[in-house]
Amino acid sequence: MYEGLKHAHSGIRWILLIALLYAIFNAYNKWKSGASYKDGDRKASLVAFISSHIQLLIGLGLYMMSPKVHAIGESVMKEPIARFFAVEHLAMMIIGIILISVGHIKAKKATDDTQKFKTTFIFFTIGLLVILSRIPWPFQQYGASWF
Ligand code: HEM
Repeated sequence: MYEGLKHAHSGIRWILLIALLYAIFNAYNKWKSGASYKDGDRKASLVAFISSHIQLLIGLGLYMMSPKVHAIGESVMKEPIARFFAVEHLAMMIIGIILISVGHIKAKKATDDTQKFKTTFIFFTIGLLVILSRIPWPFQQYGASWF
């Protein structure tokens, strides 16, 4: 179960990254060119929104099972790997997912097409940057790999 969740969490990060990048570039280009908002634009945003929520659910499962979250002996705050996963990764990923969700919902509610693209672009870009700031990069000490 734990290994399965780890593989899923590791794989969905790529789907989320591609979905976010696509939605961000799409929103930026169409915002700047004054294009009208079509169903495909809503779907591009929806795919990023759904993948971020699937990642959140799997992350919560991992949070309960992962040995990396539970420091052995020392307190979580004193052990760098446990602190990273139990506090930093958790907090920043949730903030990133909230930004993506707010962006998706605000864009859906906006009545003006330019405003829809602009909202998606701003919220998704900040959400992506927040996520990138606290994922366990393979070149860091947290034992993550590229795939
Ligand atoms: C946008 C959302 C997220 C992204 C992109 C992301 C990305 C990652 C990556 C790349 C890893 C390393 C996987 C590996 O070992 O190869 C990881 C591990 C982990 N993530 Fe996330 N994560 C996200 C959200 C979350 C959330 C919301 C939680 C907790 C509620 C969470 C909990 C964990 C835990 C506990 C691990 C360590 C698993 C282990 O190796 O035992 N993640 N995450």
